[in-house]
Amino acid sequence: MNYTRRDMIQMGVGGSAALLTGWRPVWAQATRPADVSSQRKRPIPSTGENIPCMGLGTSRTFHADTSDEQRAPLKDVLRLFHEMGGTVLDTAPSYGNAEIVSGDLMRDLGIRSDLFVATKVRVRGQAEGVEQMQASLRRLQTDRVDLMQIHNLMDIQTQLPTVRKWKDQGRVRYVGMTTSSRRQYEDFEHWMKSETLDFVQLDYSIGQREAAERLLPLAEERGMAVMVNRPFMRGRLFQKTQGEVLPEWCAEFDCASWGQFFLKYVLSHPAVTVVIPATSKPDHLRDNMAAGLGRLPDKAMRDRMEGLIDAM
Ligand SMILES: NC(=O)c1ccc[n+]([C@@H]2O[C@H](COP(=O)([O-])OP(=O)(O)OC[C@H]3O[C@@H](n4cnc5c(N)ncnc54)[C@H](OP(=O)(O)O)[C@@H]3O)[C@@H](O)[C@H]2O)c1
Repeated sequence: MNYTRRDMIQMGVGGSAALLTGWRPVWAQATRPADVSSQRKRPIPSTGENIPCMGLGTSRTFHADTSDEQRAPLKDVLRLFHEMGGTVLDTAPSYGNAEIVSGDLMRDLGIRSDLFVATKVRVRGQAEGVEQMQASLRRLQTDRVDLMQIHNLMDIQTQLPTVRKWKDQGRVRYVGMTTSSRRQYEDFEHWMKSETLDFVQLDYSIGQREAAERLLPLAEERGMAVMVNRPFMRGRLFQKTQGEVLPEWCAEFDCASWGQFFLKYVLSHPAVTVVIPATSKPDHLRDNMAAGLGRLPDKAMRDRMEGLIDAM
């Protein structure tokens, strides 16, 4: 891949901050600016396998029909994600056509084997769980998924043994559970304490920080990888910062957009393994992937970021 300066600026890092300060982002010092190897990686504690910390969600954004008009931008999003070093793709049977679209696009781009595919099971009953997981494999056009998660703790006592069995059979590589609701945090904590899980997925953002009180420290203590959903609060954080100028001090942690500001905040928490923002737009994908490059804010900077957002 060869990138022009225009491409680099569109990728969202550097730009005017670089021109003003003379500071050069990490990728600008490399011969291949978007070299996949420059994406930050983090280990899954249960195995030590390294995965890129910038992933991709599919809720709502990948719910598309088969028309070129709807599929073409999503194909670009997934192609760019892959080219820019992303691997972790999160989907679910309850995201409309998202599993079908993900399966078709992975096949068309020939990238299934490069990706780390995560999906979920959200149904009551043992047979129903098996049926739903089998349907997911068919829709994703794969014979195994990398991560199977009990979605929002639904019938977890029934589904967890089945998912573990699938892991033993090689149809699932990692086991996890998800939430995105504070109302479930107490239950979630209970399951984190009583079960051995490879991954937990939860909501955490600069505007919704409760997970940092108990769940994130517990994940570190229990050796569980953390996948963060809703890093933009479904886009609401962008409404908050609309019309606001990004402070110059953001260049100190290689941040050149509000999207990167929100993502770098999440990634700078030591318990976080991977964050999965969703987008249907190639330009937003470029912007988001740049958050996996360069420096991250330290504790003092994180406090400053929180103060800024809290005051808006
Ligand atoms: N309980 C669970 O298991 C659970 C719950 C919620 C979410 N999730 C997972 O987590 C993923 C992420 O959460 P989410 O989709 O709810 O919300 P999110 O990632 O916080 O926000 C997505 C929204 O942000 C916009 N956006 C993305 N990048 C942007 C950028 N650079 N600039 C401006 N706008 C941008 C997107 O619109 P555009 O399309 O216009 O870019 C979209 O509307 C989901 O897709 C799903 O995979 C799991």
